[in-house]
Amino acid sequence: MTGTLSEEDLETHFERTIARDQRIEPRDWVPEGYRKTMVRQIAQHAHSEIIGMQPEGAWITRAPSLRRKAILLAKVQDEAGHGLYLYSAAETLGADRADLTQKLIDGKQKYSSIFNYPTLSFADVGVIGWLVDGAAICNQVPLCRSSFGPYARAMIRICKEESFHQRQGYELLMTMMRGTPAQREMVQDAVNRWWWPSLMMFGPPDHDSPNTERSMAWKIKRHTNDELRQRFVDMSVPQAEALGVTLPDPDLKWNADRGHYDFGEIDWSELKRVISGDGPCNAERVERRRKAHEDGAWVREAAAAYAAKRRESA
Ligand SMILES: [Fe+2]
Ligand SMILES: [Fe+2]
Repeated sequence: MTGTLSEEDLETHFERTIARDQRIEPRDWVPEGYRKTMVRQIAQHAHSEIIGMQPEGAWITRAPSLRRKAILLAKVQDEAGHGLYLYSAAETLGADRADLTQKLIDGKQKYSSIFNYPTLSFADVGVIGWLVDGAAICNQVPLCRSSFGPYARAMIRICKEESFHQRQGYELLMTMMRGTPAQREMVQDAVNRWWWPSLMMFGPPDHDSPNTERSMAWKIKRHTNDELRQRFVDMSVPQAEALGVTLPDPDLKWNADRGHYDFGEIDWSELKRVISGDGPCNAERVERRRKAHEDGAWVREAAAAYAAKRRESA
């Protein structure tokens, strides 16, 4: 309860803030459903950034040159930073970071299904930058206008870094495509494996996306999954042509009436399988995260002891 305002007044104030396109800030009253949806979305996003360090992190020691290693290190470190901004944003809603991490490790909170696929060659680093970070940008640019202030502001900085991620990936692929036939084959093979999972990053189709309507009404989300997916396809086709790779979809063709590319049916059963824990690398990713968390326990204890000591002497 804030001052003498009734719950109804608070609700009206909240609805008006949303209607005026103003931001909801941490100290504002929000309906419980809004808070829960926001915490779930931000946590899932934060977990994706942290788990997303693994598939590419696996190639840091095997990068083909010092330059590629430096770029990849910087990129993977950026993802750690994204996770930290986002956990901080979730904390402004009263969530506890340790609790969120525990939920991830216990499989009670999800992360993006895309990170459950393996990285089989160095071309995957390029394709992840181009397609996975590219899809993330499509998703996240509209989130810079999300109604929750701390999330929207975190997204502005994250999007700037994501655009570097996408460009480093594309530049790497351009270099490989100018290389030997074997290198070009590696790129095509990576594109074949990542194209469809990248389309799945936008989530289930609109008719099967129960949270979309609510999130749109609260202006947490600004576009539907299918709208964003279409935008991504339209953006990627000319980029694939410039690169000289084929996107693995025989139904992909320009539709002049719609002013968009048509594309083939997505295998939604695969998405469901991977989300429910049965992707190629789910167990490995979570196990690795659990081990990193346990190995880091002494750091957290030392930091907490140091903070307590400082409080005492203050
Ligand atoms: Fe990121
Ligand atoms: Fe990224």
